[in-house]
Amino acid sequence: MLGEYGDPMRVLAFLDGTLADPDVPHIRVEDLGLMRGDGIFETVLVAGGTPRELRPHLDRLARSASMLDLPEPDDDAWQRATRLVIDNWAGDDEFALKLVYTRGLDAGPTAFAMGIPIEEKVIRARAEGVAAVTLERGIDPGLAERAPWLLLGAKSLSYAVNMAAGREAARRGAGDVIFMATDDSVLEGPTSNVIIARGRTLYTPPATIGILPGTTQAAVFRGAERLGWTTKIEPLAAADLRDNDGLFLASSVRKLTRVHTLDGDRLPDTSEVHAELAKAYEDVYA
Ligand SMILES: Cc1ncc(COP(=O)(O)O)c(C=O)c1O
Repeated sequence: MLGEYGDPMRVLAFLDGTLADPDVPHIRVEDLGLMRGDGIFETVLVAGGTPRELRPHLDRLARSASMLDLPEPDDDAWQRATRLVIDNWAGDDEFALKLVYTRGLDAGPTAFAMGIPIEEKVIRARAEGVAAVTLERGIDPGLAERAPWLLLGAKSLSYAVNMAAGREAARRGAGDVIFMATDDSVLEGPTSNVIIARGRTLYTPPATIGILPGTTQAAVFRGAERLGWTTKIEPLAAADLRDNDGLFLASSVRKLTRVHTLDGDRLPDTSEVHAELAKAYEDVYA
């Protein structure tokens, strides 16, 4: 089925409740989201017509907006735009829903929701795992609290560094990145949270160190707890990336992806632990 705008693989909705053609320009060149990366976003996984963790995503959108002094997002309008995109989606069963909110122009913010397909390499990594490299991020774990203007932990549109880290990983023959703080503690991936398993306990670093509080990490923890796992939010050291029974990257579109190779070294096979946790995550939505 083709939507009104003919392309089943991308659906664009504005916050006034209208659908728009994704193939024609809508954003003014002076938009501060474009000129300065001054804005925020969310990426929601939609599966079988249901947006996963929509409430936490919208809460985080509001939190990011507050950190950037943007007007408080209109929750009802975002929910409506989300529904509109989902109702008009005619592509694969799973897709990524981007919520984008920029400082816009003098007239006010720019806001839209857009459904797009999930990249093939992300789907492959969910099944096969991924090679990751550790890269310096140049921040210490206390910086986020000392310097809120750095917007550490906001999901801002200024992702050029995150994208550059991905290209550096590719130059090193890897598919993903784990950012490290100046004290060699673990931060997060450029678009994911780090989770490790040890025995029947899961660990992830606290958001207070300047990382994004992950909606998928939280869902994986909920699912694992249902199976009797213990979960802990505490700082992780570089050594923990190797001293474990499973190292994973979690995010809305990649779900729980296993890291099979770290800084060029093949890690022990943790596919069984991964399978159990991946199922625990899916069962949260069953
Ligand atoms: C920097 C960063 N950390 C963590 C995540 C994971 O967040 P979520 O699980 O809510 O998608 C993302 C998502 O894109 C991210 O950009």
